Amino acid sequence: MKAALLGFGTVGKGVAGIIDQGRDKDTAGLEIVRILKRTPADDPRITLDYRDIEACDAELVAECMGGLEPAHTYVRKALEAGRHVVTANKKMLAEHYIELAGLAKEKGVRLLFEATAGGGIPWMAALRRLRRIDDVQSFRGILNGTTNYILSAMTDAGLDFGEMLKKAQELGYAEADPTDDIDGYDVRYKTVLSAIAAFDAAVRPETVPALGIRHISAADIAWGREHGRIVKLIASGEKKDGRLSLYVMPQFLPDTDVLARIGRNFNGVEAVSTTLGPSTYIGQGAGRLPTGHAMVQDMLTIAKGEEMTAYEAAAAEVDNSRVEKRFYIRTVKPEVFAGVMAEAAGTGAFVTECMPLIDLLALIGQAGDPELFAAVVAD
Ligand SMILES: NC(=O)c1ccc[n+]([C@@H]2O[C@H](COP(=O)([O-])OP(=O)(O)OC[C@H]3O[C@@H](n4cnc5c(N)ncnc54)[C@H](OP(=O)(O)O)[C@@H]3O)[C@@H](O)[C@H]2O)c1
Repeated sequence: MKAALLGFGTVGKGVAGIIDQGRDKDTAGLEIVRILKRTPADDPRITLDYRDIEACDAELVAECMGGLEPAHTYVRKALEAGRHVVTANKKMLAEHYIELAGLAKEKGVRLLFEATAGGGIPWMAALRRLRRIDDVQSFRGILNGTTNYILSAMTDAGLDFGEMLKKAQELGYAEADPTDDIDGYDVRYKTVLSAIAAFDAAVRPETVPALGIRHISAADIAWGREHGRIVKLIASGEKKDGRLSLYVMPQFLPDTDVLARIGRNFNGVEAVSTTLGPSTYIGQGAGRLPTGHAMVQDMLTIAKGEEMTAYEAAAAEVDNSRVEKRFYIRTVKPEVFAGVMAEAAGTGAFVTECMPLIDLLALIGQAGDPELFAAVVAD
């Protein structure tokens, strides 16, 4: 099957490299005929003009440009033209899923997105496979390699957040502007796409509460260690009694929890489904070849005409009203939390009684402390 590639950066080069070199594998059935980027490069397939993509004879478009526009417009045009699409662009797809999936259905083409969450694990394929037999009841996982690298290194070396962020940037694990990673927005998009694959529920990204790790300190990590717990940034999703709960928060996990043991920049995610119960998937969550691998897997699924259960996601609302947890809070405004405070947790920090997440979020808003750190104390 002939394919066009939109983007030739980290992921695009991984996709092209795997296909160009995979002559003795199934990938031999794929061919990249055109590649779109912004700046010239030494490959005859490269164009800087999207009209060349429209004019080529590709049946499939693989989008790994990133950003909302023009990626969204180009994907929409590809679907309108009756081309299959695979994308690695979590932000664009989480924002426009309903529109693009509807268009794909109308045109009778596929829209696959394995590379958007969990990189090369493969997480989306695991959910599709589970759902051939089961309902997925819940998922929880580490879906951001940058923050897992930072938290794992802070836990192992006792270093502070700022030092570890700098090191992660030097190693190329963190962007120059790390906001999306450390404030939980990247995981929020991945949570939205996981909910589509797990529950057929497409929610607006901004309705998923997302708290990150920007203000975590070595003292917070040390409190966890003293209490047999390791902190991870966790995406949580559950569908129960018709209610869909979704949120992203750091969590102090018991050190015996399988997710607590996932170190370095790895991702790991657990699904709970009706007959299988819990199943856990661990692997490289990002990077040129793991992400390229995930995109090429989607391209092969389409080229080989494999019919895994398709997503039929409809618009849905987040309802976190049943989520009740104990929370660890460090803030300069402890008085706001006086009514829910259960025990001190070192200087400037405390653990709340078991309380609704939505009440906690309201108190955090009321406190208005820009450096507050909040985490679930998991059972
Ligand atoms: N990096 C990862 O490990 C990873 C993992 C999972 C998902 N993703 C997702 O994959 C996507 C791509 O990430 P990346 O790391 O590969 O990005 P990247 O290295 O910055 O590459 C982006 C590519 O897209 C091209 N591009 C951007 N805007 C364009 C435009 N308006 N017109 C034409 N070409 C344009 C760039 O062209 P130039 O080369 O000319 O600048 C570049 O080749 C993002 O959505 C990201 O979230 C990345």
